[in-house]
Amino acid sequence: MCGIVGYIGKKNTKEILLEGLKELEYRGYDSAGIAVLQHDNFESYKAVGKLVNLEEKTKDFITQDFAVGIGHTRWATHGKPTELNAHPHLGESSYVVHNGIIENYAKLKKELMSEGVTFLSQTDTEVIVHLFEKNLKSASSALEAFTKTISQLHGAYAILLVTKSEDESIFFAKHGSPMLVGIDAQNDKYFASSDTPLIGHCTDVNYFEDGDYGYVSPNAIVIFDKDGNKKNPRFTKLTQNKLSAQKNGFRFFMEKEIYEQSDVITDTLLGRLSDEGIVFDELDASLFDGINEIKLCACGTSYHSALSATYLFERYAKIKTSVEVASEFRYRSPIMSKDTLFVVISQSGETADTLETLKMAKAAGLKTLVICNVDNSSMVRLADACILTRAGVEKGVASTKAFATQVMVFWMLSMYVAKLKNSLDAKEIAKQIALMRQVPLSTKVSDVTHEHIKRLSKRYLHGHGFFFIGRDIFYPLALEGALKLKEISYLHAEGYPSGEMKHGPIALADPELFTIALLPQHLLYEKAKSNVEELSARDSTICAISALEFDKADDFIPISSCQDYMLEFFEMMVVLQLLSLEISVRLGNDVDMPRNLAKSVTVE
Ligand code: AGP
Repeated sequence: MCGIVGYIGKKNTKEILLEGLKELEYRGYDSAGIAVLQHDNFESYKAVGKLVNLEEKTKDFITQDFAVGIGHTRWATHGKPTELNAHPHLGESSYVVHNGIIENYAKLKKELMSEGVTFLSQTDTEVIVHLFEKNLKSASSALEAFTKTISQLHGAYAILLVTKSEDESIFFAKHGSPMLVGIDAQNDKYFASSDTPLIGHCTDVNYFEDGDYGYVSPNAIVIFDKDGNKKNPRFTKLTQNKLSAQKNGFRFFMEKEIYEQSDVITDTLLGRLSDEGIVFDELDASLFDGINEIKLCACGTSYHSALSATYLFERYAKIKTSVEVASEFRYRSPIMSKDTLFVVISQSGETADTLETLKMAKAAGLKTLVICNVDNSSMVRLADACILTRAGVEKGVASTKAFATQVMVFWMLSMYVAKLKNSLDAKEIAKQIALMRQVPLSTKVSDVTHEHIKRLSKRYLHGHGFFFIGRDIFYPLALEGALKLKEISYLHAEGYPSGEMKHGPIALADPELFTIALLPQHLLYEKAKSNVEELSARDSTICAISALEFDKADDFIPISSCQDYMLEFFEMMVVLQLLSLEISVRLGNDVDMPRNLAKSVTVE
């Protein structure tokens, strides 16, 4: 998730912008930049890597009079983390910064290039400033040109634009990505994509709503709503607690990231779902030429999303698919054939075991693909191709939104391959894509469900262990639920295929054995239900998660009645994440930094 800052006033604009970007570092980034307009003169600086690199570049740049300035930290989604791709992006006499994804950027870029516009970057963002300057040529004002530009953009965005044609104003637009504006005691104006950069400067802020656009000048904040009607800013008091602000008021980063899943999955989907099928800008279909098998390799949570993928690829793409634990694969002298596409999955892109297996596959001459959340990471740099999950920075050590976006990418990729292999007809692919569009809703946290889980979690603080059980693709989800609980509650938990309980584990059944049972309505429900009844008959304590009432359960967590098992998968995923969170909270553990764990295991 990128970070945006802006400032209008007479204070030290450069310092205010750089300090503001520092307050956004927690959101994660791989490049940064600022642009300042003072006395009709633009100065812009950009740097890859950490903000210290940008500070070094700007150390001789002094701002002391009135100026307008914008700044940006970039988390790469379109285009590598390079200086050229870093924001702000320049037109001829305007600069723009943007957070979000412009879904129709390719079409706009093609049109602009056909009219002779030269693009410097690979980003979607750059189309905004060139489109604005094209519109400015025929508009009666910069505001008219900006208004027309915003109307031509599809997707999610928070935009700040400065231009010589209105050198005392900052133009803004907000749709799908957060942004706010604040004022200080001297009536200077501050923009940011979240609260923290404004803390210590402003006490009153206006949170823009989707569809808001307009401009801010030294004496005015002019806002129009999505229908073009002028509206007054609605100022509210700004929290003065920075850490709370970074967590958006949640208790933990993990909790914030569970609540973010709906939004980040929207980003994961943006620009990739079309009526004709799945679009991966970053993939060349030739990657799958000559491929008859897919081998997935990962660790931990990423292994669980990979295991989920095996069900999707074999069911829909009809391609032989297998999955390996990276730490095992690298030492068992595996047989690798060149008709196998080797896919590694990693949130960080730095996990040592997984990285080594990628090197093994490349050494064996296999084509390689990485599903990753961090552009420019070691695995991204090494693999032949990469699909970014666009989850934004994940600070909680126990992975949540990274897992959700990995499964989402795999579901899309199974459709992408199904189309290439003609293993599904267009009607079925369209049906699956329609289901995918519902996942942001399926992953929205229900307050009622969260409160219910908070209450029932008090019953699961002891006992001699947990079984998480599920069938088919709900088995990897059960594994993930068990891992979440282990990681942050330190209670013992095992994920198991429901059908396996009678082959030994049921010997443990008694009231102190807690079974979390995943009972999807649309996938092997009766089979899974009978497995759970076997446990209940032996007095195991059952917590059932289902859209259908289950009278043999001691606890029951309802999910909504969905159209398809994949929507049930994502709803149950959120329930499992919240359950582990609330049990951990009750046990007084450090949810974000559990003992013995690291966010990225870069050693064997
Ligand atoms: C998941 O909650 C853990 N933090 C851990 O299992 C993690 O998934 C594993 O270390 C792999 O990390 P990666 O996705 O960055 O490769």
